[in-house]
Amino acid sequence: MVRVMSGIQPTGNLHLGNYLGALVNWVRLQDQFEAFFCIVDLHALTQRPKPEALQHAVRELTIGVLASGVDPERATLFVQSHVPEHSELAWILTCLTPLGDLNRMTQFKDKSAQQPDNINAGLFTYPILQTADIALYRAEAVPVGEDQEQHLELARETLRRFNFVYGDTFPEPNTVKSEAPRVLGLDGEFKMSKSRGNEIGLFETEEETWQKLRGAKTDPARLRRSDPGTPEVCNVFRYHGFFTGAEERDRIAAGCRSAQLGCVDCKRALLANMERVKGPIRERAAALRDRPAQVDEILHEGAGKARAAAAATMALVRERVGLVRPR
Ligand code: TYM
Repeated sequence: MVRVMSGIQPTGNLHLGNYLGALVNWVRLQDQFEAFFCIVDLHALTQRPKPEALQHAVRELTIGVLASGVDPERATLFVQSHVPEHSELAWILTCLTPLGDLNRMTQFKDKSAQQPDNINAGLFTYPILQTADIALYRAEAVPVGEDQEQHLELARETLRRFNFVYGDTFPEPNTVKSEAPRVLGLDGEFKMSKSRGNEIGLFETEEETWQKLRGAKTDPARLRRSDPGTPEVCNVFRYHGFFTGAEERDRIAAGCRSAQLGCVDCKRALLANMERVKGPIRERAAALRDRPAQVDEILHEGAGKARAAAAATMALVRERVGLVRPR
């Protein structure tokens, strides 16, 4: 069976970009493929989180992924550091990766700008660990948002190089994008992200979401309520595309163009439709928070299954690379 693999960092709270850009596809693909989904705590170390904060974030993210619909009966959900082979394979791949390839990574440049006091080597080699995550499960499909495309290209090149040097071992992983590969933040300008603080959190209450939506950028040319708007350039209208049915969306667009509908009304309608998705997720998350032992058990089982798959790949890799006992 074809394998799918993806990861998500336990840094801050899940937001609609993560949900629409990646998690909806995790849920969809778990029925069609053998799925491995990973909470990448080793990647999060590049931001030097406090130990207790990291532990808490891993638990909350696990809850968020489960509440979004990932089913541990159908997919293997686990924590990266529970499977030591991730680090081992990352080192082997590090020795195959030219510095020039890493130098091209735009995320390294972005992250370095965001944390100028902590530009550590892990930030630089980050995409190699990501390649190891994928390769360890010999995955062929990787559901991610557009911001990960460059890392996936590097993964493909690195694995091609491995196959060339050591013989055919890994399949080439394809990116699987959702219908929302790049969700913009409330500023309507930059990608939604925790580090920019322009996000709508998946767990936020309706009231918290409203406080944020109220200030969200709309059509920049619509200065007064009486000005006709242009939905095509409005980021809030774009959000409607993810949450609102076609008929209601057409009505909203017509109302906006004729200035019969104001931006506040448009945002209210969006809030109601968002809540239909977010409300049940919040409820499932609350129920899981009340059952910590169940969450621990899911991760424990997930680690066991992931380790078995990882061990099989690493036995082959060690053999190919020559990391075996001398005869
Ligand atoms: P991370 O934790 O930053 O994001 C998790 C997933 O959410 C997607 N995403 C978005 N999609 C659309 N619009 C947005 N505004 C948006 N913001 C985030 C990301 O593309 C990602 O799919 N390096 C990865 C984690 C990782 C990984 C892997 C992914 C580690 N190992 C192996 C795939 C395979 C990351 O930092 O994602």
